[in-house]
Amino acid sequence: MNPKFHIYQNSPLSLIIDHILQRYHEVHRMQFANILPLAEQCAKCDDFPTQLLPFLQAFSVDLENHLQKEEQVLFPLINAGRGSMATMPVRVMMMEHDNHQVALSQLADLTNNLTLPENASSEWQQLYEILQQFRDDLLDHIDIENELLFPRALNE
Ligand SMILES: [Fe+2]
Ligand SMILES: [Fe+2]
Repeated sequence: MNPKFHIYQNSPLSLIIDHILQRYHEVHRMQFANILPLAEQCAKCDDFPTQLLPFLQAFSVDLENHLQKEEQVLFPLINAGRGSMATMPVRVMMMEHDNHQVALSQLADLTNNLTLPENASSEWQQLYEILQQFRDDLLDHIDIENELLFPRALNE
């Protein structure tokens, strides 16, 4: 298991869910609220990867749909102590996590692994800085759900 999450190993599931909502769901929404306008500005720059803006717009829609499914369907089931009946929703969420990992490797391909060109504008620098945080956070977010929350909820 990702060592960051050992401290939550014996925590109540509702507390783990609260942590996920505050530390990841809200944070990803704030990150995209900055990422999208910055990417729109950068799209006017020479040499900016042409596919990056539409890619990020699609990623944001896709991720928001995923967060809403967890918030509206899966997490309420787990909070109600019915996680053991959530086999199908958990399977779907884990498939979507796999897709998000694929999207992160596409992001790395599109941006030369978030490497800035020498002449990058300050917006472009900010954009890649936030994308780096977003990538690290999303990987942790997937780990805490796949490795801790989901297995414990299914075994309740
Ligand atoms: Fe989540
Ligand atoms: Fe998730």
